[in-house]
Formats: sequence, C-alpha cells, structure tokens
Amino acid sequence: MHEQSLTVREAIIGRRSIKKFNGQPVDRDDLMRIIDDAVWAPNHQNREPWRLVVACGKEIFQLYKVLRDITIPKWKELSDEALDKQMQKFTTVGAFVFVIVPEDVRQKQRLEDFAAASTFIQNIQLLAWDYGIGSCWKTPDYLDSPVFRNAIGAKPGERIISMLQLGYFDELPKAVERKKAKEIVTIFGQFNEEEEKEIE
Ligand SMILES: Cc1cc2nc3c(=O)[nH]c(=O)nc-3n(C[C@H](O)[C@H](O)[C@H](O)COP(=O)(O)O)c2cc1C
Repeated sequence: MHEQSLTVREAIIGRRSIKKFNGQPVDRDDLMRIIDDAVWAPNHQNREPWRLVVACGKEIFQLYKVLRDITIPKWKELSDEALDKQMQKFTTVGAFVFVIVPEDVRQKQRLEDFAAASTFIQNIQLLAWDYGIGSCWKTPDYLDSPVFRNAIGAKPGERIISMLQLGYFDELPKAVERKKAKEIVTIFGQFNEEEEKEIE
C-alpha cells in the first residue's frame, strides 16, 4: 500500500541510486501505477518515445537465466553456492524495467527522444522513491548485445537505454556532494569575469 507522500524537493534531494536490494518483491500493480504517472514526462511532439519490458512476477526467473548466461558464461563450472552468490545482485532485485526508445535516423529527433525517455526514467525513479522503492539506472554493455536484445524483444531501430532495477532496501547509501549553483552558473554577460579580474 502506498503511504509515503514526499514533496517534489524531498524526492529529488533524498533519492539515491540503490545498488543493494533486500529481496522483497515489487508489486506489479504498484509498478504499473508508477509507470502510469511517470508517462507525464515532457516529450517533443508528444511522441512518447518509450516502451518498457518489465519483469517482476514469475517471469523474473526466466530473466535470471538470461542474465546468468550472459554475465557468467562459465556458470556450469560453479558450485550451486558460488553461482547463487554471484547471482545475488540480480536475485535480490524486486523488479526489472528495460526502457526502449526508437533510434530515429534524424539526429535531432533521436536526441530528443533519448532526452524525453531520460526524464521519463527520472519520473519513475522519483515516484518509486515515494513508494519506498529504491532504484538504479544501469547501462551494462550487454544491453546492446544481439543475444540480450533478442531475449528482451528489442526490434531493429530500437535501443535499450536502461536496465532499471527497482526494489526494497535496508541501507541508504551516502550521497556524493553536488556542485553548488554558484559553481556551475555564469550570469549572462559576465563570461569573461575571470579575465577581467586578472587585468585589474
Ligand atoms: C545514464 C545513467 C547510467 C547509469 N549506469 C549505471 C550503471 O551501469 N551502474 C551503476 O551502478 N550505476 C549507474 N548509474 C547510476 C549512477 O551511478 C548514480 O546515479 C550516481 O552514482 C549518482 O548517485 P545517486 O543517483 O544516488 O545520486 C547510471 C546513471 C545514469 C543516469
């Protein structure tokens, strides 16, 4: 049941990427509600340039096999115990969401679609955070591999831009400090302030 209700600021500042989950499954209805809200992301020409492949119920066991075969090619040589240990980084995740965008041949549209899908992913992460669900946007190299693309059902002209892992967690990772506004902002017209200071 969804009870938390963070302000936008609390969600943005408080969200951390969660890389260690505790194994509690994510409820499919919760996930579908989160996605239903996340689609209100900005996107040029209302192209809604995203589709998702989700694994959070029984289907997650089939996905584990795909991830096992790709990430641990010699898994048959491992003991059950060693294999379980190596697979824990997947088996403790509550839900996987693969975000797929069209790769428009026109660069502008392609960049816009990637940008829009990124805001959509951030929406998912913030909404999930409000449910008490952590997440991490992952981009392992194998997302582009033909074997994995085939397993996910990515079609020619589509790109899997994120393996979003979601789930519950016991520990909140420490935040890495961010730069302050004054460090990244230039006031219009003051581009050469440093040079001017040097001349003085
Ligand atoms: C496009 C993108 C790709 C990322 N890929 C990975 C990844 O492959 N593995 C990973 O552990 N984290 C990945 N992250 C998460 C970042 O490591 C994380 O956002 C960053 O450390 C800042 O931490 P925070 O999200 O808790 O503020 C990715 C984030 C983005 C936006």
